[in-house]
Amino acid sequence: MNTILYYFSGTGNSLVIARDLAAALVNTTLIAIPRALQEPVAGAADAAAAVDAVGIVFPVYAWGPPRIVTDFINSRTWNGIPYLFAVCTCGGFPGGTLTQVERALRARGGNLSAGFSIVMPGNYTALYGAIAEAKQQKLFARARARVAEIAELIKARRNRPVEKSFLLVNWLTGLLYKFGMPKFKTADTKFWVMDTCTHCGLCVKVCPRLNIDLQDDRPQWHGNCEQCMACLQWCPVEAIQFSRATQKRKRYHHPAIKAKDLFIKQGN
Ligand SMILES: Cc1cc2nc3c(=O)[nH]c(=O)nc-3n(C[C@H](O)[C@H](O)[C@H](O)COP(=O)(O)O)c2cc1C
Ligand code: SF4
Ligand code: SF4
Repeated sequence: MNTILYYFSGTGNSLVIARDLAAALVNTTLIAIPRALQEPVAGAADAAAAVDAVGIVFPVYAWGPPRIVTDFINSRTWNGIPYLFAVCTCGGFPGGTLTQVERALRARGGNLSAGFSIVMPGNYTALYGAIAEAKQQKLFARARARVAEIAELIKARRNRPVEKSFLLVNWLTGLLYKFGMPKFKTADTKFWVMDTCTHCGLCVKVCPRLNIDLQDDRPQWHGNCEQCMACLQWCPVEAIQFSRATQKRKRYHHPAIKAKDLFIKQGN
């Protein structure tokens, strides 16, 4: 079975899941969504139409898909794919995320055959710090087992209703998403940099939206933010802060992933 697996990841959780899933499925091509968004759509659609299965792996943001994932879904059509699946990673509660993704794909001709969620360490340092490493390892072990199960279902081309919460919870989280998500784009005004910045430029390279540049050797944000936290989490000297809350919070990224694995521009 030939599979294309598109993924988006700010701090590596979804990339690890995508890699593990690709290894279990075999014959799988991994494509980063921020890069795919920069490619001509026609060729990409032809490639997707020629495979047996297409999957999308991404984190949950505010009980829904990240804006970049919605933009990606809306950037092409999804009809004619024999088996289409989605896997979201979350810090504990995905709400109606997969229902929203199913709806977005349907609007572009796609029929989601299955949708799964996997709990990983939370990464939204604007609200909380990283959990203890021992707890992280427990979640990673559980996630590995879950990926093995999911891979078997995908290989067997099982059609399954997407995982979702109760109707009322789905509806409520959908409402919160609708009002919360548009605010993320310009929430980068709350980022600031400490004098410990070494001007290394890593934050520029990990940003999936190319939303940061260095001016006078210091990062500047330009109002096209996902709130993925990559800039803050990957800064080697923890110089990036978000409002007043993050100075004492422990940073997080998946230990098996390196910052360069997430660069949009390859070869940097
Ligand atoms: C902006 C933002 C919003 C988030 N919202 C949720 C949420 O609603 N529910 C949840 O369970 N986790 C939430 N999380 C946690 C992430 O979904 C989780 O840590 C995910 O595995 C991160 O994946 P990544 O490392 O591939 O970026 C949020 C994280 C961020 C950065
Ligand atoms: S990653 Fe950190 S140290 Fe490097 S330029 Fe950005 S803020 Fe400065
Ligand atoms: S500015 Fe930071 S939080 Fe916003 S998209 Fe770029 S890396 Fe993510």
